[in-house]
Amino acid sequence: MNPSEPCDLETRVAWTTERDNTVFDLIDREQERQNTGLQLIASENFTSPAVMEATGSVLTNKYSEGYPGKRYYGGNAVVDDIEEIARDRVKALFGAEHANVQPHSGANANMAVYLGLLEPGDTVLGMSLDHGGHLTHGSPVNFSGVIYNFVGYGLTKSDERIDLDQMRELAHQHQPKMIVAGATAYPRTIEPAPIKEIADEVGALFLFDAAHIAGLIAGGSHPNPMPHVDVMTFTTHKTLRGPRGGCILTTAAHAAAIDKAIFPGLQGGPLEHVIAGKAVAFGEAQRPEFSHYAAQIVANARALSEALAGEGFRLVSGGSDNHLLLVDLRSFDAELTGKQAQAVLDEAGITLNKNTVPDDPRSPFVTSGIRIGTPSVTTQGMTVAEMPAIASFIARTLRERDDPDAVAAVRADVAELCARFTPYGG
Ligand SMILES: Cc1ncc(COP(=O)(O)O)c(C=O)c1O
Repeated sequence: MNPSEPCDLETRVAWTTERDNTVFDLIDREQERQNTGLQLIASENFTSPAVMEATGSVLTNKYSEGYPGKRYYGGNAVVDDIEEIARDRVKALFGAEHANVQPHSGANANMAVYLGLLEPGDTVLGMSLDHGGHLTHGSPVNFSGVIYNFVGYGLTKSDERIDLDQMRELAHQHQPKMIVAGATAYPRTIEPAPIKEIADEVGALFLFDAAHIAGLIAGGSHPNPMPHVDVMTFTTHKTLRGPRGGCILTTAAHAAAIDKAIFPGLQGGPLEHVIAGKAVAFGEAQRPEFSHYAAQIVANARALSEALAGEGFRLVSGGSDNHLLLVDLRSFDAELTGKQAQAVLDEAGITLNKNTVPDDPRSPFVTSGIRIGTPSVTTQGMTVAEMPAIASFIARTLRERDDPDAVAAVRADVAELCARFTPYGG
């Protein structure tokens, strides 16, 4: 083609009008999977069409390195307004003095906090991974465990709750610069006040990673750590039901260090389309119905715990106060591993993840447990009335896991239940 010759519109515009079936057929298949199966992964949710509209908007085209009013490129007047709205809404939601809404993910948010407030080699107290902590809380295979000297606290043997006596002892012994609270697989409330006390006793900073429970906090179904902490990080896509991303809230004292750590410390241009999605999600979480949603997540988790206990499963810590349950499979079937359970449940249209239980004799790739969460099914409109059916689908599948016809029968029952609660119908 000669570039100086006029051409028709279709040729001139660089975008093809042809549907990319290779990709979009797969997206259709994924929507079908989400619509017709039970989504019980505790860290997932169904975000609203409004959040998806913002996240799929023209804002993806804009470069906005810097912060509102202090950008490196021009053309950011609109973007500044959007980021300000996101910051204002999230500060109001959690009662924070400062917000940074730019972290691309929860891991980035934690990385920025460490980069901004610690020196390499500093000692930090975090929850051990095998007792429910997250990779970014000091796992040796994660940057956090490579760069910083993490010491792990865990759960009591007696009731499988966070062992505050051990945390205090370790804090006095190791004099950490920071204590990290928060977890990825802990089914109980994490009271911030007693941890703040321990942090104060040893002069440590207090970071609360609320990745999983941010939506419960926003909805008033979990104590708000913000009044007790120096920094709170969270993901926006779990119980909070926003787009995939992270967020950092701080006291005014740490605002500059955290902002500098995100940019230019760790990231380049912020994902302003995702920040717009966060703004929409924060607005949704400010609405009164979000409190009902958060309370229903917790009620559903409790009802599901009781129903699973009735089917012969042992719940780690005996139950749940939040959105997730950790199921120890050994009481149900000593031979059954989390890995096998995850695979056969997937065939039955029940999506969840294998998970170690405290002091699990099996490796993290095999595990003796599964983790189950109620945020997605609650968004679909399921209530405590549906939880016994879900427990029975899980128990039937695992009991009859060697019989493909029995697993297929559960798959049909799952589809029938989900047809009454389709998240993305039409
Ligand atoms: C406690 C906790 N912190 C941080 C993260 C990391 O979030 P992301 O996957 O967005 O990096 C997670 C993710 O599950 C988490 O559970």
